[in-house]
Amino acid sequence: MNNKTIIRFEQVTKKYDDDLPVLDNVSFEIERGKFYTLLGPSGCGKTTILRLIAGFTEPTSGTIYFNGKNINHVTPNKRQVNTVFQDYALFPHLNVFENVAFGLRIKKMKKDIIEQKVKDALRFVNLSGYEQRNIQEMSGGQRQRVAIARAIVNEPEVLLLDEPLSALDLKLRTEMQYELRELQRRLGITFIFVTHDQEEALAMSDEIFVLNKGKIQQSGTPKDIYDEPVNRFVADFIGESNIVAGKMIQDYLVEFVGKQFECVDKGFAPNEDVEVVIRPEDLEITTPEKGKLKVYVDSQLFRGVHYEICCYDKDGNEWLVHSTKKAEVGDEIGLYFEPEAIHVMRLEENSRIGVADEK
Ligand SMILES: Nc1ncnc2c1ncn2[C@@H]1O[C@H](COP(=O)(O)OP(=O)(O)O)[C@@H](O)[C@H]1O
Ligand SMILES: [Mg+2]
Repeated sequence: MNNKTIIRFEQVTKKYDDDLPVLDNVSFEIERGKFYTLLGPSGCGKTTILRLIAGFTEPTSGTIYFNGKNINHVTPNKRQVNTVFQDYALFPHLNVFENVAFGLRIKKMKKDIIEQKVKDALRFVNLSGYEQRNIQEMSGGQRQRVAIARAIVNEPEVLLLDEPLSALDLKLRTEMQYELRELQRRLGITFIFVTHDQEEALAMSDEIFVLNKGKIQQSGTPKDIYDEPVNRFVADFIGESNIVAGKMIQDYLVEFVGKQFECVDKGFAPNEDVEVVIRPEDLEITTPEKGKLKVYVDSQLFRGVHYEICCYDKDGNEWLVHSTKKAEVGDEIGLYFEPEAIHVMRLEENSRIGVADEK
């Protein structure tokens, strides 16, 4: 553990009753001052991780460290952590000022200090001047900001945000994504943000943890995870992808759909069975002669910036293409791709998930 580490999970398992674990032997490190995202489908254990960090629940086994100290039994109010809940959990009968001041009053801080701190927090979230407003008179986006102000007024070292944007419409959501990212930079504290939306995770994070069924499937920068998914779950969950069965003939040579292709992957056993991922935007439309694959165009949708073209090869594999070029439904076309566009994944990592699936 280096001195940048603020939170560490060491083999943490959480079971609610005698049931299967909700978190299964999870280990990770969170560094100070970065924007982290926990990404995964509903029920994968994201909120449970936040609750463990905040101290609302304790691990069944394993250890949670904060600044190097075991905090398994430390109560929530003794942790340098605050949470912004999914439903904001504001007090409807209190105005904006009193909502933000609530925790400080409980701590019995002096009146003038409370006033200064609340003012600063509201300025941070662009709500100066709204102190006396009723919560009911605030829009969804403004309530969101009040909830954030209420959390940061305590000057936590870590801010936990549990799907804070899920109740907002698309436009406001995008605006708030920028605002939150900007706020994290200005505050310089660690944010742990939860979402099930992969685009949101890619846009906002320094580092993403992809979760499925109580296990971390992969952690890394958005680019790592997008470009080098470790298994089918991650490849599928993060963006759209074409995934086909293949065989690694030797280093830098992979076979799929009955042909051999140059690639940049190495370190597999000779003739190892693998899965091959190619992202839709890495496929270029060309003539059947120039293409590395021959496919038939099955359908096409215009998506504003690109066409989303669905094709099939002679073996019945589906190939999704994102292209600024249009195709004609029913035509035979060629698909061209560079060796770098091929990403080869080991099967073991998939079978490991397969085992979890059967539980
Ligand atoms: N208090 C609880 N008692 C029993 N099971 C729970 C409790 N809280 C969560 N779970 C279960 O744990 C799993 C993970 O939940 P959660 O962490 O809330 O997932 P996420 O936030 O990723 O949607 C789910 O199957 C959920 O039903
Ligand atoms: Mg949740």
